[in-house]
Amino acid sequence: MGGKVSWWRDAAIYQVYLRSFADGDGDGIGDIAGLESRLGYLRELGVDALWINPWYASPMNDGGYDVADYRAIDPSFGTLADAGRLIGAAHRFGLRIIVDLVPNHTSDRHPWFQQALRDGPGSPARERFHFRDETNNWQSRFGGPAWSQVEDSQWYLHLFDSSQPDLNWEHPEVRAEFRSILRFWLDRGVDGFRIDVAARLVKQAGLPDKRGRFDVVPTFADADEEPDKDRPEVHEIYRDWRLILGEYGPDRVFVGEIWVRDPDRFARYLRPDELHTAFNFEFLKCAWEAGAFRDVIDRTLATHAKVGAPPTWVLSNHDVTRHVTRYGRERSAFLKREHGVPTDLALGTRRARSAALLSMALPGGVYVYQGDELGLPEVFDLPDESREDPVFRRTGGLDLGRDGCRVPLPWGGDEPPFAFGEGGSWLPQPPEWRRLTAARQLGDTDSMLSLYRLALRIRRSEPALGDGEMRWLDGEPGVLAFERDPGFACVVNLTGHDVDLPEGTPLLASTRLDEAVAGRAKLPPDAAVWLRTPDRG
Ligand code: GLC
Repeated sequence: MGGKVSWWRDAAIYQVYLRSFADGDGDGIGDIAGLESRLGYLRELGVDALWINPWYASPMNDGGYDVADYRAIDPSFGTLADAGRLIGAAHRFGLRIIVDLVPNHTSDRHPWFQQALRDGPGSPARERFHFRDETNNWQSRFGGPAWSQVEDSQWYLHLFDSSQPDLNWEHPEVRAEFRSILRFWLDRGVDGFRIDVAARLVKQAGLPDKRGRFDVVPTFADADEEPDKDRPEVHEIYRDWRLILGEYGPDRVFVGEIWVRDPDRFARYLRPDELHTAFNFEFLKCAWEAGAFRDVIDRTLATHAKVGAPPTWVLSNHDVTRHVTRYGRERSAFLKREHGVPTDLALGTRRARSAALLSMALPGGVYVYQGDELGLPEVFDLPDESREDPVFRRTGGLDLGRDGCRVPLPWGGDEPPFAFGEGGSWLPQPPEWRRLTAARQLGDTDSMLSLYRLALRIRRSEPALGDGEMRWLDGEPGVLAFERDPGFACVVNLTGHDVDLPEGTPLLASTRLDEAVAGRAKLPPDAAVWLRTPDRG
């Protein structure tokens, strides 16, 4: 890989959910100092870049996706000077920094919204948001109506929590403000931006009603063609931003959070003058099933090839049920967060190990959500009073929300807070995570962490991996097997029985391979292997 192509075309990017990564000041909340103290761990893990969830000044009603000041760091995380130091330190460790940009909405504490409240109906300040005298039938993505009323009886639109008023992207001041915010962080040395809710900034003129029925529990399967999603005009914004980024050289990037299913509509965001990459959520949502994976992979490759963008492979993030848990369920396709579903975590863990090898062997870039490398499962039994995600409240608990995938990381020791920090952790960690701490896994060559470290190291040095092409190998149904040149193959067994391996020498396997039988290893169910294959050239 290294040096062949632009860094972002095949990067391994680690997602840091800052509040839950590591706590440097002992207040139970992860922060910049904690992250800085663990940069060595991330370098040794073998990733190329970090995407840091929003670290801006915020009342934290939605974990920081409610921004009150886009040019300040929240005091619970540190200061602007700390952020600057972190960026410098990360660069010295060879890690690039991608920050999270939240352009769809602000916090209701943002000075613009406060002014809009003060200035009243008809004021210019209200035009920066969507204030109306009457509502439409839109629902919040977090459950409940997408409109809340203010004292003078006008309503404002919020596609998420009521504390997150949507900005009006028709307004020139909104556009100018975000251009300036981009420059602010580019000037501070960030390497890129993850764009939150990237497909929803522009709303259809007149805000017409939606058709159809609504689920109380938000799903990840809503239609693409909606008056608040994937409007053609949104692309102008990204073309404009791309020019700004270009002024800072070829190495700064955008990654879009785009929950658009139609491959052609998705690809439009990745045209050469728009975003560089986007999260591949179709891969994340895919069931543990060879045919389904093959379809998603083929579709992904074809779609991205049309616009010349590299695909990304994503298994989890801070919004979805952790994949160790998902893959341990009979229905492993992800459509919505569910609890109370029978789950076999040992099975889910075996599959997660294989999924890691699959995702790192495919062409393009790969994402690792913090804790994936430790094999953390979703936590369901949090005390209700500790839950902070507005989804829990807005769905009346029908959806437990996303706190269960945001539980602070276990770093070491035998009891909570497992060296997360000196002062507890903002969400309680399960005592059984003593078996999953980073310190413990580092000493175990069979651990998930050891697998990730080895896989990322091989991925980095292996010329066949990263950007490029792949070719499916013939084989029995239920087996995913593909080759990459020169001389590399990945095989994943999704059948219920052992399968023969193609010719080659195992480089890395998700499980111990038993070579006792006739000198040729068999691959057990739910396992994956990387092979050095004979050079055919
Ligand atoms: C995105 C974020 C999510 C947040 C929402 C509103 O989907 O990933 O965490 O709650 O946007 O900003």
